Amino acid sequence: MLETRVPFIDLPRQHCELMPLLLAAAERVLNSGAFILGEEVEQFEGEFARFTGARYAVGVHSGTDALILSLKWLKIGPGDEVITAPNSFIASASSIALAGAIPRFADVGDDYNLDPDSLERQITPRTKAILVVHLTGRPARMREILEIADQYKLRVIEDCAQAVGAYYEDKQVGNWGDIGCFSFHPLKNLNACGDGGAIITQDKDTYEWMKNARNHGLKDRDTCAFWSANARLDALQAAFLRVKLPFVKEWNQSRRENAQRYRHRLTNIPDLVLPAPEDNIFSVYHLFVIRHKKRDKLRSYLAQKGIDCKIHYPTPIHLQPAAGNLGYTKGDFPRCEHQAQQILSLPVHQYLKNEQIETVIDGIIKFKD
Ligand SMILES: Cc1ncc(COP(=O)(O)O)c(C=O)c1O
Repeated sequence: MLETRVPFIDLPRQHCELMPLLLAAAERVLNSGAFILGEEVEQFEGEFARFTGARYAVGVHSGTDALILSLKWLKIGPGDEVITAPNSFIASASSIALAGAIPRFADVGDDYNLDPDSLERQITPRTKAILVVHLTGRPARMREILEIADQYKLRVIEDCAQAVGAYYEDKQVGNWGDIGCFSFHPLKNLNACGDGGAIITQDKDTYEWMKNARNHGLKDRDTCAFWSANARLDALQAAFLRVKLPFVKEWNQSRRENAQRYRHRLTNIPDLVLPAPEDNIFSVYHLFVIRHKKRDKLRSYLAQKGIDCKIHYPTPIHLQPAAGNLGYTKGDFPRCEHQAQQILSLPVHQYLKNEQIETVIDGIIKFKD
C-alpha cells in the first residue's frame, strides 16, 4: 500500500504532543466524578468567551446543536425561511429543517461565502433569518450581509464551525450577528476528542436561555421551564478543550503561514485558482481550497504521491436527496455548482513540515493532465 507522506490532518501527532496535559485533564475529571456540566464546562465557557471577545459562551454537545438552539431561541420555526450557503457542510441547512423551518439558499462568491447580491434576491416575506457560514475559516462579507439583514429586519446567526479565531475587521467571527455557533468536532481548528460545540453572545437573556435549553429546559434540578433536548457539552470534552484552547492562536498562525507558502509558490500555474486574497479579514484556513479544471485527475495524481486531499463538498446541499422537497434543481446556484466540480482542499494543518508542503507544491507544479 502507498505510504501517506502528507496526511490531510494529523490528530495522533497533536495528541502525542499534548498527552501529559490531556491525561492530567482526564484524571482531574475522573477523580472529581463530575461528568455532566459543572466546573470544567463553566471554566471552559469563561475561557472561550474571553478568547472570542464575547460576553458569554455556552458549551453544547455539537455545532449542529448550537445552530438548532440558536434558531429556536430566535423563535424560528414552521413557515419561516432561513437563507444559508448551499456549499456548506449539511448541518448549516439541516439545522434549519430540524428547527421546523425551511432552508433556503443563495449563491456564493469567489470567496466561497454567501454573495450579498444573490442573498438579497432570495429574500421573501417568509424570510426570518440569514445563517451565514464562514466557510473554510474565511469570514463572510459581514458588513454587506448585516446591512441587508437590517434593511429587511432579519436575524443573523453565524456558523463559525470552521472559523474559530478568525477576524472580520477588528472583531472575531461570532460577534457580528445575533449569535455565533461553533463546532469542536475533532477535525476543526479547535477540536475536542469527540463531539463538542458552543454558542457565543453579548446578550444575557440569550445566555440564560441557552444554559437551560441545552439541559432539557431545566431551570433548576426540578423545574422544567420549556421542552428541550439534552445538548450538553461533556465535562471530559470541556477539560480537553481547556488544554487545547491556549494553543489555537499559534495553530491558526501556522495554518496561515502554510497558506502563504502555497500562495507564493503556486502562482502562474495554468488552470489553477488560489483562494481569493484577504481584504479586511483574518482567515484561519480551516481549509486551503484551490480550484482546478482537472480536479479529479489532479487529486488522483497527488494521491499517487502520498498526498491526501479532500473535497469540501462534492454535492451542493440544494442538490442533496434530503433537499428534494425544497424545489431546487441543477443550475439554481451556478457558481456554487461550478465550484463543486473544481474545488480541492490541500493539507494545511499546523503540523505540516516544510518538506511536506514542498511535496504538495512540487506535485501540483509537475502535474500534467
Ligand atoms: C460549516 C459547518 N457547520 C456546522 C457543522 C456541524 O458541527 P458538528 O459536527 O459539531 O455538529 C460543521 C462541521 O461539522 C461545519 O463544518
